[in-house]
Parts: sequence; structure tokens; C-alpha cells
Amino acid sequence: MNLIIQNGRVLDPQSGRDEAADLLIEGDRIREVAPSGGMKLRDAEVIDVKGAWVTPGLIDLHVHLREPGQEYKEDVASGSRAATAGGFTSIVAMPNTDPVIDNGELVQFVIDRGKRAGLCRVLCCGAVSVGQKSERLAPFGEMKRAGAVAVTDDGRPVTNPVMMRRALEYSQDFDLPVLSHAEDAQLSGHGQMHEGVISTQLGLQGVPGVAEDVAVARDILLAEHTGGRLHIQHVSTARSVDLVRDAKARGVRVTAEATPHHFSLTHEAVMGYHTSTKVNPPLREGKDRAAVIAGLSDGTIDAIATDHAPHSSIEKDVAFADAMNGMIGLQTALPLALNLWRAGMPLLKVIALMTTGPARVLGLSTPAIREGALADLAIFDPAATWQLDDESNYSKSKNSPFWGRPLEGRVRATIVGGKVVYQYDRKPVWSVQH
Ligand code: DOR
Repeated sequence: MNLIIQNGRVLDPQSGRDEAADLLIEGDRIREVAPSGGMKLRDAEVIDVKGAWVTPGLIDLHVHLREPGQEYKEDVASGSRAATAGGFTSIVAMPNTDPVIDNGELVQFVIDRGKRAGLCRVLCCGAVSVGQKSERLAPFGEMKRAGAVAVTDDGRPVTNPVMMRRALEYSQDFDLPVLSHAEDAQLSGHGQMHEGVISTQLGLQGVPGVAEDVAVARDILLAEHTGGRLHIQHVSTARSVDLVRDAKARGVRVTAEATPHHFSLTHEAVMGYHTSTKVNPPLREGKDRAAVIAGLSDGTIDAIATDHAPHSSIEKDVAFADAMNGMIGLQTALPLALNLWRAGMPLLKVIALMTTGPARVLGLSTPAIREGALADLAIFDPAATWQLDDESNYSKSKNSPFWGRPLEGRVRATIVGGKVVYQYDRKPVWSVQH
């Protein structure tokens, strides 16, 4: 059955289109885009989305799905459900699972799980080093052949600079970007939160901003030296933003991402010792948050990525010092990103940071709303308020500092390859082939 999506405000960063339009979807493709009311009626299911905005499906290049090994926190299917409820049509799984995804077979396993879930497109990264131990390089070619889109030891840094150098050299043979969790683990030490006035007040050990800056500088210099493709994950400090900006100006092949929590919150959020605010890199200072937002605005930072990091109550309902790092983010990313627009960032720019931006980082085909394009779409009501709670949450975990707080902007439907995979006011359709 063909599908017509009627009366939405269509926002397409690739073409700059921002107008009321109707879309005809045939099979997995957009067949026609016409100004609202201008489309000939035909045999199709019609979804009237008046008042809603229609954008290319969101892409999240940084998601922890915890499968294999920690399915009590999340699995590929539950993570896919949370993703589609958040407007994401493609997500990229991180390899810090148990066992670590450091071979072709495990890359294939995660991709197969994604297909079996049949909701969004589940892409996968392979590890940089075997077991993420920074001792031996993982088999990049084998992982690429199995479908890996990038390599990363995310969750921990590549501690050995020689290993990072080799990764940036070797990855060029396979055209794989190296995603860097940029952190000097020795400078971080046993820090629990950002090192500053709040950590002193709370009596918690701090992680200094320079622990990130040093690692970003190292990796940029290694990318410059090798010509490799480097992507800095979860940029959180003002100095890192400057380092990436300067490197781009010199022509270094570097891209960067920032998370909704780093552009929305500061270390003040940790007062109260809520473990949902414990994340790595930690929530920083107001000046860092402002610099991250400036980096998102001026193109220094290419993409918004959630770093969706589910943990169960076993890891989070404990003393702050014992809690694991991470927060879930798939369902809160869009409302938090819309706050950037509410604060003055052009709307198409915000949408680009969640669609064309991440696609470019990974070298995926450019998401677009035009005739012939793949029908991966997010449809949301920018003004609807809601909260993440037991009823709305699709993740297996609840570790979010935004839990129970009012959020503005709600996904109404998500379409992947022409199929409605999430619809908020109807029972979701779980079985879709693509
Ligand atoms: O807060 C985080 N959680 N940061 C990371 O780098 C890893 C992630 C996780 O896997 O839980």
C-alpha cells in the first residue's frame, strides 16, 4: 500500500526546503513531493500530520545497545524501539559489549539482530584494538567486510599512541573513520565528575577538562601526521572545540560530535548526587557548554550524537562513587536539540546536525526529502509536551536526568524504508522488512 503524508511542514536540510508539503511514498522510496493539497488523490493510505514537522529520519552515530552480553540493560531490539520512538531511523552500535565487538562475526551478529528487530537500520562499529585493550589492532578488513562503518574503542580511550597511529594508518586501507573516545586516563584518574568548584563542594574527585584536551590534541596531531580520518566523540570542553576548529582550518581530516547532555546541562546538575548525571566525559562548566553550542553553530562540531548508555539499577542505584558512567538519550535527543532552535539556532541547522551531519561523518548516503530518496522520515510535533516515564520509555533502562521532567517536542511517527515503524497514538508496528 502506498502512503501519503499530508499537510506536514517539510524540513530538508540538504535542499533547504522548508514548506508545507505532501509526500507520496511508494515502496521504500519517496515518489513525489508536492505543495500541500497539490497531490492527486490515489489509492494510498493517507496520514494527515497537520501541525507536525517532517524531516529526514534522524541518525545517531553513537549508541550503546549492550548486546552481546549485557542484555539486562538493553538489547538491539529494545534499543531499536527506543530509537524509533525518538525519531531515529539509523543508529550506530558501539563495540564495548561483552565480549567486545572486535571481529567480523560479532559485527555481523549485531547487524543481523538489527534486521531481526526490523525497526530502524542498525549499523555497527568494530573495536580499534582486540578486547579494547590497546595492545593489538583488531581486524579492520574483516570487520569492514562484515558491515562495520567505523572503528572505535569507545567507552575507553586508545591509551597507547602507537596503537592510535597505526589505527589511523591502517583504517585508510578500508576507508573507515576512527572514532576517538578522547581521554587521558591517567589525568582522569579516579575522577567522578568534572573537576571544579562543584566537585570540591560535593567532595567528589574530579576529572579535569585537560584530560580530554590532551587526548584531542594527540589524536588530531596523529591524524595530521598519518592523513587518517579522525572523529572526536562526545566533545565536552571549550578547549577541545577550539582544537577541532583549528585543525579543520589547517585541513586535517577531523570531524566531531556533541551530546544533548553536554549542550543542555552543566556540572551543577550533579548537585544532589543523582547518579543519572554521572557520565563520561562529565558534565562540564557553563563556558564549556557555551563553547559546544558555538561549535555546533559554526560547523566545528558536525553532529549531535546521544551516547545512549543504558545501565540498570544495579549499576546506578548505588553511591555516586560506585555508579557507572552513562545516561540513556535516544528519546530525549530531539526535544533537547529543539531547545537549540528555541535559543536561536536556525531550524534547518539543528535538523542537519541530526541527519546530514552524522551521515557525512560516516560517509553514508545523504538523507534527503526529494523524489527518489529513501523514505526514512521522522514526523514530530515541536510543541507537544511530554515526559520520559515508565509509560513512554522504550529502553530497558531508566538512567536519565531528564526522567519525569517536562520535554517539548514529541515524535508522532517514524518511517523506515517506507514503513511506519513507530506511531505514538497507535500500537507500534514491530515487524518490518528492509
Ligand atoms: O558515560 C559513558 N558511558 N561514556 C562512555 O564513554 C561509555 C558509556 C557506556 O558504555 O556506558
